Amino acid sequence: MKCLFPVAGYGTRFLPATKAQPKEMLPILTKPLIQYGVEEALEAGMKNIAFVTGRGKRAIEDHFDVTYELEDQISGTSKEGQLDSIRELIDQCTFSYTRQTHMRGLGDAILTGETLIGDQPFGVILADDLCVGEPDGVMLQMVRVYEKYRCSVVAVEEVPVAEVDKYGIISGLQLDAHHIRVERMVEKPAPQDAPSNLAVIGRYILTPDIFEILRNTLPGKNGEVQLTDALQTQAKEGRVIAYRFKGRRFDCGNVEGFVAATNFFFNP
Ligand code: G1P
Repeated sequence: MKCLFPVAGYGTRFLPATKAQPKEMLPILTKPLIQYGVEEALEAGMKNIAFVTGRGKRAIEDHFDVTYELEDQISGTSKEGQLDSIRELIDQCTFSYTRQTHMRGLGDAILTGETLIGDQPFGVILADDLCVGEPDGVMLQMVRVYEKYRCSVVAVEEVPVAEVDKYGIISGLQLDAHHIRVERMVEKPAPQDAPSNLAVIGRYILTPDIFEILRNTLPGKNGEVQLTDALQTQAKEGRVIAYRFKGRRFDCGNVEGFVAATNFFFNP
């Protein structure tokens, strides 16, 4: 039922656009990136939306709230329908927030979210990765994988070997065309050290023991507490499934992917 969105990152690759606004609020057409992510969570049945935020991210809270003056002003006009999509989310979801006071990596961000999640399996969406599932959303596909295997699930896709150093990379036992039981996970390996070219993208379902593991995970790559390292602890016990999702992913954390997503949605 719960989905965690780590949104404390600075978005330096989009400066100056992200100087005074969160990168998650950058729009693909008329909808901010974060809204695509929350829609995907809701489609997967995750109605409790939890954000790990930071300084300068207040626009996200305002986005997932009603704006009486605005709604009143456009009510009865041709623009009325433009708020339907966000209104639907506000009506169907709950939103909670906690702040990450220091930047110590994705693993630390997830651990900061523990207070909002508690003791249950939960989804994680990195809104930078905009996913278009075929036909169902990627998180809904992953819920089905979780229901079958009852352990953590990571979404993976093949990337060019030259780009493996941007991702968590996995290898393991191929169970069928779409499922791999993960044996190894490495955060941002050099191409010559990578166990494969299967990259984890920003979609996870995690079992709640991940919090205790994260508490005991030392800083890894780049001196940050890496979710990948905590998942490797579960993987050693056979408790991580990598899922080759059906659909497309746009890396909206860089300008090229952002433009590709914009073109895709403008002319699908
Ligand atoms: C994070 C994770 C990485 C994963 C990636 C997906 O990296 O640490 O394992 O492959 O997200 O987008 P980041 O992109 O935050 O550097």
